[in-house]
Amino acid sequence: MDRKAAPQGDLAVRAEGPVAVVVIDNPARLNAMTVAMWRKLPELLAALDADPTVRLIMLRGAGGKAFSAGADISEFAEARTPKTARDYDALNHAAFEAVLGCAKPTLAAIEGFCLGGGFELALCCDLRVAAEGSVFGIPAARLGIGYNARWIRPLLCAMSPAAAKELLFTGERFDCANALRMGLINRAFPPDSFEAGLAAMAVGIADNAPLTIRAAKAAIDEFVRSPQQPDYARLDALVDACFRSEDYAEGQRAFLEKRKPVFSGR
Ligand code: COA
Repeated sequence: MDRKAAPQGDLAVRAEGPVAVVVIDNPARLNAMTVAMWRKLPELLAALDADPTVRLIMLRGAGGKAFSAGADISEFAEARTPKTARDYDALNHAAFEAVLGCAKPTLAAIEGFCLGGGFELALCCDLRVAAEGSVFGIPAARLGIGYNARWIRPLLCAMSPAAAKELLFTGERFDCANALRMGLINRAFPPDSFEAGLAAMAVGIADNAPLTIRAAKAAIDEFVRSPQQPDYARLDALVDACFRSEDYAEGQRAFLEKRKPVFSGR
């Protein structure tokens, strides 16, 4: 295909009730992330994180064949030269930090190829749910790419140092069974029950008390970032906010009335 005539990739957002779905939309290139897409992601996520109607942010690929096959390699000759590699990394880094920085829960819904920077995006999400048949890998060592040291931390949140070394040293592609074994993903579903399993998990989280999830996410991330000196004042304030909330009262009422609670996030 003539590269110049190839469709430009984009990121699209659609609302599925309280779940905001960010679609990596570049199926002709297996949802490879272009410079424009890397650039757009932080702004888009900030808006969703601030939107009170959004309870969970889901990232997924268009077309069913790939979550994302990584950075768009066809742009490297111009955008990722020895001179511009650091700028390109900074662009990637801002996107990864934007995912990591969401206060709301984030979930990567993975079907098909999940490679390189695409896999890193998924690893920056809180949770990863995959359709069996998906493949995972970071082929940097096969491309001679220097894998930015800052991007190792999200790997180590999901997997052991030994698994991270296996991933990066071999550059191999891992199937779902191995991804589960290595801790790369949380859950895998057969393709025909993927949508149902994914929706049940996403809606289950979105229906839970948002302030409780916010406090738990903040604490887990803080212990990973600053294990020696966690900011307990901030974390305690987030827990206090749960006990002061209408949702705490609603949770108790619903339990006593034997019904499902309806949480408002207040
Ligand atoms: N960047 C740009 N284009 C990409 C891409 C990427 N990361 N990954 C796939 N594509 C394009 C291919 O060039 C091809 O385009 P074409 O139809 O114009 O030739 C199209 O997507 C389909 O990919 P193709 O390689 O034909 O599919 P496949 O099923 O044979 O192989 C992969 C799939 C994912 C194994 C293979 O495309 C691949 O290795 N991609 C690169 C993965 C990678 O190294 N990512 C890290 C980037 S840092």
